[in-house]
Amino acid sequence: MKVIVTGGTGYIGSHTIVDLLENDFEVVCIDNLARSTKYPIGAIEQITEKKFKFYQIDLCNKQETFDVLEQHKDAVGIIHFAAFKTVPESVANPILYYNNNLISLNNILEGIQKFGIPNFVFSSSCSVYGNAKALPVTEETPFQEAESAYAHTKQIGEQIIQHYSKVNTTKSILLRYFNPVGAHPSGILGEMLLNRPDNLVPYITQTAIGKLEQLTVFGGDYDTPDGSCVRDYIHVCDIAHAHTLALKYLIENQNHSNCEIFNLGTGNGVSVLEAIHAFEKTTGQKLNYKVGARRAGDVEKIYANNEKASKALKWHCQYNIEDAMLSAWKWENKMKELALL
Ligand code: WQD
Repeated sequence: MKVIVTGGTGYIGSHTIVDLLENDFEVVCIDNLARSTKYPIGAIEQITEKKFKFYQIDLCNKQETFDVLEQHKDAVGIIHFAAFKTVPESVANPILYYNNNLISLNNILEGIQKFGIPNFVFSSSCSVYGNAKALPVTEETPFQEAESAYAHTKQIGEQIIQHYSKVNTTKSILLRYFNPVGAHPSGILGEMLLNRPDNLVPYITQTAIGKLEQLTVFGGDYDTPDGSCVRDYIHVCDIAHAHTLALKYLIENQNHSNCEIFNLGTGNGVSVLEAIHAFEKTTGQKLNYKVGARRAGDVEKIYANNEKASKALKWHCQYNIEDAMLSAWKWENKMKELALL
């Protein structure tokens, strides 16, 4: 069965292609390489010993998008990852985010309708919850105001798909990721960072390898057990596998409505200091860090109730935070090696 993956050279997209190929799907990958490189294509082929088609096109260009979808209208579904995801950049340049993330989504939805592609999986985010009033968050927890234009594009994106689902036969799943971390256990695939990192784990690994001098823990005075923020860090390979399960769930008509939502988190809240200690323990590296001021826009704590995905999709996490840290460290060392080539 053929599946189209947009944003397939990105962090979660590339790990998902590995999982799909390992589960015998045929993959067609689309990416404009605006925020990625072709490196993951070779790495995926090396891991899986399988090949897949790649198209470098921009989904904001409707004609180009339609041309590829028409060629692959026999696909059983589309998994749509392609989007910009840097929170501070979206705060500084909101129009860039509204244009890129929403025009591409509209073009894809129009294309799916036009060419009759039956199933659709959308990358959403726990950031749609904003500062949730009660924890853990379930799929029914109401949205609070978006903290960034990025988060707002995910809220709007979800709403567009929900309205679309009322009048179209396409079946959709919205997957709300918590904090994806780690890399493929092979050590040859991970997040390709083209700029300075924005997220905690690459900050940790880049500090440990000496690219960055020191890690600052943003805030030590939160109302949490050790004063640092709490998040739900989930291994990228666990997130990837959920996409394969979501697609199969739709293909097998197990869905209860045309548009269903699932949280993808481990269900465990982990503080920044606990994450640092997990890194130190598994890798044996001593991290140079200090506790500093709070970062604007951070929520104090958030973690998932993942019962819905676990029951309906039969999705269970295979990796813990230590596995994630070890694989992230392996990947950081691989990137150092690649930079020297
Ligand atoms: C995690 C924790 C920081 C860097 C973002 C997006 C969200 C979602 C996941 C996709 C926070 C702390 C970080 C550092 C630190 N993405 N930190 N020092 O902000 O929870 O969520 O990624 O949808 O939408 O907003 O992730 O990795 O930036 O931060 O102390 O140098 O680590 O304060 O508590 P965040 P993050």
